[in-house]
Amino acid sequence: MSLEKPPAILQPLISAEDLSVRIGELGKEISEYYQDKDLIVMGVLKGSFIFMADLVRSISVNHACEFVRVSSYHKKQSTGAVTLDFEMTQSIEGRHVLLVEDIVDTGQTLLFLKKHLLSKNPSSLKVCTLLYKQEVNPQIQTELHWVGFEIPKLFVVGYGMDYEGLYRHLPFVGTL
Ligand code: IMP
Ligand code: MG
Repeated sequence: MSLEKPPAILQPLISAEDLSVRIGELGKEISEYYQDKDLIVMGVLKGSFIFMADLVRSISVNHACEFVRVSSYHKKQSTGAVTLDFEMTQSIEGRHVLLVEDIVDTGQTLLFLKKHLLSKNPSSLKVCTLLYKQEVNPQIQTELHWVGFEIPKLFVVGYGMDYEGLYRHLPFVGTL
């Protein structure tokens, strides 16, 4: 059996401790914002699963958790074409939706999902992304309500994010 050797050399970019501190701050702001609202936190699989797990545990207001799954990425390049692979299982009509993304790069995935979710008539739709590559698409910033960290135009892995399916389990964010 031969396994293709994954690219080596991981440079840490954001430590587990910095992630934890920042997610605590985001959770606090989000909890204040959604007080007394019917909130659904909507994770985008697969990349946001670890961020989502930590973020919801730092949100102190009652909320439901949901997931959608989209795909668009091949190796290190966005294909531009986004497809919905897995749909949410509860209605969002008249409810407040917080979309949770691991990373916003070109913003194609986000725009696709926003359009899809808005067609289901939520009361509001806001976006929380852990990472934002600001240089790639500065215009998309107006679509983002909570951003964990702005990062340079680098390909990152860890904390849910992958290269060819690998590295999602790393507790920190690093570059290859
Ligand atoms: P966008 O549509 O170009 O904004 O890309 C969005 C999706 O591509 C993200 O939700 C990630 O799943 C993936 N992606 C973008 N940049 C990276 C990266 O640096 N590392 C790993 N995945 C990435
Ligand atoms: Mg993603």
